Amino acid sequence: KIENLASLPPMGWNSWNTFEVHINEQLVKEMADKMVSSGMRDAGYTYLVLDDGWMKKDGRDSNGDLIPDPEKFPSGLQNLVDYVHSKGLKFGLYNSAGTQTCAGYPGTRGYEYQDARFYARHGVDFLKYDWCGTEGIQAKEAYTTMSKALAQTGRNIVFSVCEWGDNQPWEWAEPLGHMWRISGDIYPCFDCEHKHPTGWSSWGVLRILNMRENIRKYSGPDGWNDFDMLEVGNGMSAAQDRTHFTMWSMMSSPLFAGNDLRSMSAQTLSILTDRDIIALNQDPLGVQGFKWKTMGEVEIWVKPLAERNFAVAFLNRSTQKQKIEFNWSREIIKDPDFPYQLDLVQNTFRLRNLWKKRNEGSTRAKSVLELEPHDVVVYRLIPEK
Ligand code: GLA
Repeated sequence: KIENLASLPPMGWNSWNTFEVHINEQLVKEMADKMVSSGMRDAGYTYLVLDDGWMKKDGRDSNGDLIPDPEKFPSGLQNLVDYVHSKGLKFGLYNSAGTQTCAGYPGTRGYEYQDARFYARHGVDFLKYDWCGTEGIQAKEAYTTMSKALAQTGRNIVFSVCEWGDNQPWEWAEPLGHMWRISGDIYPCFDCEHKHPTGWSSWGVLRILNMRENIRKYSGPDGWNDFDMLEVGNGMSAAQDRTHFTMWSMMSSPLFAGNDLRSMSAQTLSILTDRDIIALNQDPLGVQGFKWKTMGEVEIWVKPLAERNFAVAFLNRSTQKQKIEFNWSREIIKDPDFPYQLDLVQNTFRLRNLWKKRNEGSTRAKSVLELEPHDVVVYRLIPEK
């Protein structure tokens, strides 16, 4: 891969979660405008990515090139890429390693170098590369071929490996791509499995969060575990949205909004653009958080941060209010994979409640936490002196 394109988790907007294949030029331009006027771009959401459905369904042109759907994009792909770039944003596209995409559009198999040149020629900055239509082919090989094809264009194209975790991409995708999916698709619910008639499932926030153990050591600058695109603003409660966004940030996951930015509420926007939470995600140390322990229905997650800061999140996974007392100064929290330790016996930290935007004393005192159903309280711990 071309290196150093994702030293921090990539952020942007992707069309899939709200629009599926129902995208078009007008909609995408409005979304680009809104990324700027809402402040999303300035909060860090840089990439605007068209997911599945941007191509014509029936095949390639006489040169073998992919055909952007002329009905959806009457002014052409280049016009749209230029428009998005003119807004100070980067532009991304989607395809699949197989013969077809997941929604049945032409796949890239056998055209890897040609498609890579097509993307580079049009000024594409990001490619999400899916795993549909791949019967009989090897994942590592397929992603290696596309990675090489992209690198050979010489253009800086972030390569997003979308393999769903079945072939353990965290073990092999780091030299090839800048992020890799670790699960099946997300679904806008907090704790459900959504079964599709065709036999596969998509998953609620808590399911994805707790789906894989022991893979955080593979995630880090330039190669991130991808917990899938955000469902903030897509129908969950405010508490659930806050928890979803907090935990994706705690996990250093790429952050791709997936809601209709044109009609989002002020509350949705304030969650997506919260500078303190985004700072956890974009922390330069680039260490994914870990579940330290569970106290009843409350999960406690810890993320080491730069400058000996830590984030500690208390997540209420139940539908009941939870009240817990937490005695900080008794705990020594050891990172299981990286050389960090939060020693609260020897050291004291200031406590900043990130959603409440207030300081809550120090780790010398006990905290009494009242957690609403499915809500989260997250602190930044800042060393005293
Ligand atoms: C797969 C991916 C999704 C989305 C769809 C498009 O399900 O995992 O993120 O790209 O395909 O068809």
